[in-house]
Amino acid sequence: MFRTLYSKLAITLVVLFLLLGALFFTVMRATFESQQLAAEQQLNRPLAQRLVHEYLAGAGGLTAEADRTLFDAMMSINPTIELYRLGLDGHVVSCSVPPGRVIREFVDLDPVRRFLDGTARWPLKGDDPRDPRRSKIFSAAPILSNGEPAGYLYIVIGGEEQDSIARKFAMDHTLMSALWLIGGGLVLGLVAGFAAFGLLTTRLQRLAQAMERFRSSNFAEKVPYLAGSDAATADEIDRLGHTYNQMADRIIDQLQELRDNDSARRDLIANVSHDLRTPLASLRGYLDTLLLKGDALSERERAFYLETAARQSERLGNLVAQFFELAKLDAGDIKLTREPFVIEELIQDVVQQFRIRAEGKGVELSMTAGGRSHFANADIGLTERALGNLIDNAIRHTGSGGSVTVSIRADGSMIEITVADTGSGIPREALPHVFERSFTLDRSRSSASGGSGLGLAITKRIVELHGGRITVDSVVGEGTSFTFQLPAGDRPGATAMAA
Ligand SMILES: Nc1ncnc2c1ncn2[C@@H]1O[C@H](COP(=O)(O)OP(=O)(O)O)[C@@H](O)[C@H]1O
Ligand SMILES: [Mg+2]
Repeated sequence: MFRTLYSKLAITLVVLFLLLGALFFTVMRATFESQQLAAEQQLNRPLAQRLVHEYLAGAGGLTAEADRTLFDAMMSINPTIELYRLGLDGHVVSCSVPPGRVIREFVDLDPVRRFLDGTARWPLKGDDPRDPRRSKIFSAAPILSNGEPAGYLYIVIGGEEQDSIARKFAMDHTLMSALWLIGGGLVLGLVAGFAAFGLLTTRLQRLAQAMERFRSSNFAEKVPYLAGSDAATADEIDRLGHTYNQMADRIIDQLQELRDNDSARRDLIANVSHDLRTPLASLRGYLDTLLLKGDALSERERAFYLETAARQSERLGNLVAQFFELAKLDAGDIKLTREPFVIEELIQDVVQQFRIRAEGKGVELSMTAGGRSHFANADIGLTERALGNLIDNAIRHTGSGGSVTVSIRADGSMIEITVADTGSGIPREALPHVFERSFTLDRSRSSASGGSGLGLAITKRIVELHGGRITVDSVVGEGTSFTFQLPAGDRPGATAMAA
């Protein structure tokens, strides 16, 4: 029940206000009382002096008899006062109350002297001879006998009954109205405090609920916190809410990314093992045959089997090398060694490498070069890999009588290279996937023709490492063209001449 923030705040507030109320009450009552006493003492201040003048002096002697007369007369006029005659050392000589009820024998003369000095701050309290633990307001005056100091007249103001009557009166009126005022103020503050806490805690509660529901959906379904204000004017709670919203988005995205990565990794392993199994199986097949009937085979057959086995093992080696290369590109392990070179020369080299294969297939392979040459600032080895992959694909997917053309175009700070063929083309729905690793239109055919499905994935990573983009255009039955960019470089020597 007291576990909500609201109840904790509310209890704290109530306790605080009760303490505050008690403090107010105590201070008010003490001030009020001391003011009452001060007023009363001031009023009765000359009393002792007057009595000493009018009676003791007139009676002519300091006798018990004279005291009695005076005390009785006074008591009949004002029963709330008590009179004492003190010796010079402060001991009680005679008094107006029955002697048995006086307990102190001595009265401290220090307050009396300060009273007579006039330096006192009111109310000034002195000993009450009837109660050793209590002090009361008083009036006092020195008594002279034949011009010599002979003692003091000490009047305690406000007898026992007077005491409680005064207190009651005070409680009943002024103090009570002050109390009402304070109480009202405190209650008003309490109500306002509750309302403010309510406003603040409901928003926190909403935030907590949103987070709780998000958690119980296993971080799958976003439960947004709807802040009352936009991010610019938000207070701490709303900012917390905005941050939570962003974090929830991020968590959902990252979980999705993890799931995607996971399934991509599973696909990759499945594809890799499939791709490796096929050449491995055929390699084993040929080797087994050689082992089993090695003697029964003719020289020509044996050579054929050995050659085939060697080709399969080479293909395996290539595949593994490609996987390794892609893994390195993915991990960012590859550092570019950029240098300026003439792109036409590189293309000419690569075209030369594929010339024999193209002629064997009856495909015309050419480069259309403009009048001037272009300088690229790129990693030569990687650029050669990318180009080789594209030309290899183009030749493989183009039939006899077709053509593969490489063209170059300057495009601002980039050089654009296009490898176009007049081959089989790629269906529109497959186009977005050609750059995914292990994508092949037809697994069995591709494996038979030696493709790994990794070439375009590697090519794309290489182009992106150089800050370029690669795109594909294709019409089924008409042909395909791949276009990628490389950063253009300065003509070597151009900077040296400028310098
Ligand atoms: N020029 C092209 N014409 C038609 N299809 C192509 C062409 N280039 C790539 N493809 C398709 O994209 C797939 C992926 O190419 P790639 O990543 O180089 O793998 P691989 O060449 O090893 O199969 C190929 O298997 C093929 O189906
Ligand atoms: Mg390829």
